[in-house]
Amino acid sequence: MESKTILLETMDSGNPYNESLSPDFGIHNVLSLTQFDKKSLEKIFNAASDFKPIQDKKDLGDVLKGKIIALLFFEPSTRTRGSFETAIKYLGGQTILVENPQNTSVAKGETLEDTGRVFSFLCDAIVMRHPQEGSVKRVADVVDIPVINAGDGTFEHPTQALLDLFTIKEKTGKLEGLKGLIAGDLKNGRTVHSLLQGLSLYKNNKVYLLSTPSLKLNPELKHEIENKGVTLNEIEKVTDIPKDCDFWYWTRVQKERFANEEDYRAVKNNFILNKDLLNKYAGEKTILMHPLPRVGEIAEEVDSDLRALYFREQIPNGLYVRMALLTLILNS
Ligand code: NCD
Repeated sequence: MESKTILLETMDSGNPYNESLSPDFGIHNVLSLTQFDKKSLEKIFNAASDFKPIQDKKDLGDVLKGKIIALLFFEPSTRTRGSFETAIKYLGGQTILVENPQNTSVAKGETLEDTGRVFSFLCDAIVMRHPQEGSVKRVADVVDIPVINAGDGTFEHPTQALLDLFTIKEKTGKLEGLKGLIAGDLKNGRTVHSLLQGLSLYKNNKVYLLSTPSLKLNPELKHEIENKGVTLNEIEKVTDIPKDCDFWYWTRVQKERFANEEDYRAVKNNFILNKDLLNKYAGEKTILMHPLPRVGEIAEEVDSDLRALYFREQIPNGLYVRMALLTLILNS
């Protein structure tokens, strides 16, 4: 069976929530941020904003009533899994949760494709995380129900980028003409890859990439993002951070992608975001983001700074954005 991945098409304008009830969203699987364009992102962001007054949960409608969504998490997850599950339940849907490959027939040697085929008979969509790049697409290619990538190896994590872009837009008022800093594991960090793809849809964005030489962005991806119009500046020292960034996006060094512990230890603590660094290099309005989990690269003393959004806006925004996406995909 052919992949049902369809590039997002130009959307009509008007009330995004009402539009989401019409059959024109044009997306089936979500595998990569490269599937999106500015209009489709705008549509998701508008729908996400509509979900913000979430206090009265009874008013959220029953968009997913009678629908069952499989959450197949073959890698650890806290926020993404919790956020998807909450989003589905707020919208009236139900979940089947598989958190450990040892609890599936994959442990007996079943292919991911076969596992996907089985769930496609049992439920209405699959949200999947897996350590192998391209694994989520492999499942999407053999099933008819929508498949959403919740992180595939070092490749992409598109729904994290949706919430990151939504947060940047909300806090800075724009997605064009940004000056940003992305720090940490740029080689292995899939959230970074998706975020850069998202930023490349908008004009005049400039991003400083702070990492050790061994954790630099893959040169091919760097080229691709530059060709799409983003100015990328690779730096290796915090002293090269410009003072007036709109956002800092800090990331964890991805221990699980290293061949051995020694190589990981050699680079894990190279860039620590603490108050001293903030005072020296951040602007008054620089927002501080992190996809989480953090494992020491942001000092806890930074958490109370009002510019730090990782335990503030980023978490609820993840919920609103996923509610918007599920509504647009499953209700179209
Ligand atoms: C990220 C991931 O899984 O890629 N976590 C998340 O979903 N927010 C980032 C990470 O694990 O470092």
